[in-house]
Amino acid sequence: MAAIDQGTTSTRAMIFDHRGRVVSSEQVEHQQIFPGPGWVEHDAAEIWVNTRRVAASALASADLKGSDLAACGITNQRETTVIWDRATGEPVHNAIVWQDTRTADLCERLAGSQGVDRYRQRTGLPLSTYFSGPKIAWLLENVAGLRTRAEAGELCFGTMDSWCAWNMTGGVDGGLHITDVTNASRTMLMDLTTLDWDPEICADMGIPMSLLPEIRSSSEVYGPLRDQGPAAGVPLSGILGDQQAATFGQACLSPGEAKNTYGTGNFLLLNTGTSPVFSDHGLLTTVCYKIGDDAAHYALEGSIAVTGSLIQWLRDNLGIISAASEIEALAATVDDNGGAYFVPAFSGLFAPRWRPDARGVIVGLTRYVNKGHLARAALEASAFQTREVIEAMQADSGVTLSTLKVDGGMVVNELLMQFQADVLGVPVVRPVVNETTALGAAYAAGLAVGYWKSESDIRNNWAQDKTWLPKMSADRRDDLYAKWNRAVEHSFDLN
Ligand code: G3P
Repeated sequence: MAAIDQGTTSTRAMIFDHRGRVVSSEQVEHQQIFPGPGWVEHDAAEIWVNTRRVAASALASADLKGSDLAACGITNQRETTVIWDRATGEPVHNAIVWQDTRTADLCERLAGSQGVDRYRQRTGLPLSTYFSGPKIAWLLENVAGLRTRAEAGELCFGTMDSWCAWNMTGGVDGGLHITDVTNASRTMLMDLTTLDWDPEICADMGIPMSLLPEIRSSSEVYGPLRDQGPAAGVPLSGILGDQQAATFGQACLSPGEAKNTYGTGNFLLLNTGTSPVFSDHGLLTTVCYKIGDDAAHYALEGSIAVTGSLIQWLRDNLGIISAASEIEALAATVDDNGGAYFVPAFSGLFAPRWRPDARGVIVGLTRYVNKGHLARAALEASAFQTREVIEAMQADSGVTLSTLKVDGGMVVNELLMQFQADVLGVPVVRPVVNETTALGAAYAAGLAVGYWKSESDIRNNWAQDKTWLPKMSADRRDDLYAKWNRAVEHSFDLN
């Protein structure tokens, strides 16, 4: 079973066996484009070239042919917005990435006197730069000629799942213009209950509905891959936004089950069953998955914009490490953060605070602080932000977390995992396969073609690798967390 994981920093192709174990994995990073402060773009054409490349090499490195695959799924960075020409297949502009804050004024204008929760009852989301709808509106307002072309039906909008699916199923030669309910729920244009586009919100944002893809379930046969690559003919049968895919891959299939993914950002999702639960504490309500004709499952989500990307920033912008994997050794050169706190509000602050005006700060500096302390403070920021989101989730759901299931690239970092358990005061559990994002998309695709028969196959495949138990005293935990909260207050100083 194959899955494409089109993420924020890289595109990966993975092949899994029936036990959900990795057979093959290939990954390539793409360029991060920063045209100005707070702006982040990707070249969608480059991403499509990379997708083809990793798919071919994942097959080749396992010595497999397309005909060995039962099906293929797609999972993706959500919200990132691309518009392309139906006739030529050319993107009309770089994709605007979910982290991009250029739509802050537009969101404020849309909120007007009704406030940022204007669409929350319908979409589960506050008006924020994070979501796709305002990004589409920005493109239509700011790229010359685009609105006319959109109104003439010449253009397609998609999140990266749509872009990949359209190209993979034929592109200009009849490619399918589709998305799934989970990705659609991140656009701010879909009604959470009807699972259909909301014409009123589209009209408010000036978005012609002809731009939008067809919304499908997360697991059904959409069509065969028609790309010329080695996988031609394989059914495309699963699409899930990456955080929903990780929830699925972690077998969080019953109400009350949650996972936390440590990627570019952190995303904690709690399965709330077949009814949407609306948050009073700064969380999002989102579609978790919909398998074929079954009822959709919903989730409460705490999205944190910057965790792993802070480590990249230390590597690329400050150069205090030369590879992300060096951060743990550097942090381990010191016993604690030396009094330094790092609030990485590079895209403002997301859940649970939703402060687009926040900016990153490092506080608590003395001449004692060295790069080891900064490395440690950077890692601790992921754990403190996770605690904020978990507190919000407990307040919303009334459920007290007894363990935290984790996954994603940063969970190989033992120092971070121990600190996470310490700062939460609950055990942190890592599964054997921590690439649960791609695995979740593979499961969705596999259920559609009968490669896996039911959700119990997914539960049975889940296996625990390691657990970290909290070792810190409650007093110390509370003291550190109180200081973190004071540090966050300084991220609002520049406005
Ligand atoms: O909502 C953004 C999220 O989907 C990005 O995930 O793993 O690419 O950081 P990731």
